[in-house]
Amino acid sequence: MTFTVEVDVPVPMRDGIALATNVWRPAGPGPFPVLLVRTPYGKDDAGLYGNPKLPDVFALVDAGYAVVAQDVRGTSRSPGTFVPNAHEGRDGADTLAWLAGQPWCDGAVGMWGGSYMGFTQWQAAVRDAPALRAIAPVMSSADLYGAPWYSPGGALSQDAVLTWGTLSALRNLRRDLDDGRGDPADAHALLSGLSDPEVLHARLPLADRDAMTRHLPWVGQVLGHPERDTFWQEDAAIDHCGDITVPALQVGGWYDLFIGETVRSYTMMRRHGGSAAARDGQRLLIGPWCHADGTDLGTFPDRSFGLDSSIKAADLTGAHLRFFDRWVRGRTDAPDDAHRVRIFVMGIDRWRDEADWPLPDTRHTDFFLAGGGRANTATGDGVLTRDAAPAEAADTFRYDPRRPVPSLGGTVLAAASGAYPGPADQAAVETREDVLCFTTAVLDRPVEVTGHVTLILYVSSSAPDTDFTGKLVDVHPDGKAILLCEGIQRARYRASLTDPAPLDPGTVYELTIDLCVTSNVFLPGHRIRLEVSSSNFPRYDRNTNTGATIATDGPDDLAVAVNRVHHGPARPSRLVLPLIERPDPRHPTASTEAEARA
Ligand code: BEZ
Repeated sequence: MTFTVEVDVPVPMRDGIALATNVWRPAGPGPFPVLLVRTPYGKDDAGLYGNPKLPDVFALVDAGYAVVAQDVRGTSRSPGTFVPNAHEGRDGADTLAWLAGQPWCDGAVGMWGGSYMGFTQWQAAVRDAPALRAIAPVMSSADLYGAPWYSPGGALSQDAVLTWGTLSALRNLRRDLDDGRGDPADAHALLSGLSDPEVLHARLPLADRDAMTRHLPWVGQVLGHPERDTFWQEDAAIDHCGDITVPALQVGGWYDLFIGETVRSYTMMRRHGGSAAARDGQRLLIGPWCHADGTDLGTFPDRSFGLDSSIKAADLTGAHLRFFDRWVRGRTDAPDDAHRVRIFVMGIDRWRDEADWPLPDTRHTDFFLAGGGRANTATGDGVLTRDAAPAEAADTFRYDPRRPVPSLGGTVLAAASGAYPGPADQAAVETREDVLCFTTAVLDRPVEVTGHVTLILYVSSSAPDTDFTGKLVDVHPDGKAILLCEGIQRARYRASLTDPAPLDPGTVYELTIDLCVTSNVFLPGHRIRLEVSSSNFPRYDRNTNTGATIATDGPDDLAVAVNRVHHGPARPSRLVLPLIERPDPRHPTASTEAEARA
């Protein structure tokens, strides 16, 4: 393979700033189709070239693409100020227009990259950018309120905001120090948060983050906009999916904090994308992966999914090349993946191709909460049953924000939160009196759950506002309680994310909690468990139970809430599971295969 690399090519933006850009070109005069990545993490950083979650740049060039890597405004070698997401739409569109005018570009451009690099793709895709033919966001989101900064139920993703905010503030501080500005003492303040989760997360009020907001004022804005108001709506590409005319290859991980939005952008684009190509060309690939680096082998302390589940084995480079050959090169004869959806099914620990998402043969099935009113802890009397609960009862617990339930695995961002992400055993939290557990009998046949998991609870509280959390757990025959997916609903946002409404203490409300998505076969001998509580910290911020602005409540404002989950014929609290019933769970059904071919 021979290629040339031009480094730090200045690409002009409409306001006169020029962004530093590297251009990799295959040998020969071209013109070539182009694959663009826009990153805040350094276009020259090794992370862009050796990351198994991203396509291999050398393989892309070897396949005949020019690869263009750009430092987004205010990062690494590009001038300006880094304000997350603020400039990516315009700068992305200007870069695409510049590329289309280069003699070595054949006029067709695809974009790629993970996480923030995915935000830049969605922002460019909603702009009028005729050169853009396809995008491939890996572990990313087109609605930054839903993930990563808040959540569909309105709680702050505290771990993500503070961890990523600290890292980004440090990068900004380093630029300032290089320019002879900034206070080196701030580096100490920021780094101590990264090395000690207590320092990062415990301090109240939450909004009191001087060192972070000095170097990244955006953190203050995020904390100041707890509702999904215009601050969030303006940048939510998914709210304008009818304007997006390009297909997307979306890659996700069951334990990635972005997974809910990854799947939602797939379903929204399938239904409402702005062209036939955008609707038909969507592809979704999900493995048992987390966002954090170093979890790519599919092997975690409490659960291993086998080497076949590793990101390397999934060959993301191959998936990108097939997708870009079809949609950027326009090769209609190219062997684009025949199935739209490829998922790793946990439990049976196998990959499976599917016609679409949600799986066309999904049967949403109620599992009712029942018991005598002592569901506290895994040894309580909470039951999960397919038959309606026979009698009215209620389970009560005290939620004290001074002692929140610690996050154990799941979709935390990284070890900086004090918990490793992924399929962690929940045993340590299931001994707490403020964790209700509802468990089925031991299964005598496999039960597959693949899709969106929803929890409907009838609740009351002594407080004007509080949270309710849920976790779906696979209880193994040895007692290990392995987390599958989780969610939270802030009570004040139960009807609307823009118009909060307090609770009337003591009144019973029906609450719907989005527990996100998973794919798991509960094997014979296992049990299905639901955990309910009121905190999952620091994955989400803790509700202070006051009904006031949570981010500005101080340590003396925290109040205890007495929270209650009601169940029975009149108040049918229930877990709604997307069941897949096939003769052999290792295979798609005959009808889904036929649909995929159609
Ligand atoms: C990332 O680029 O990896 C990232 C961005 C936002 C939140 C968390 C991670």
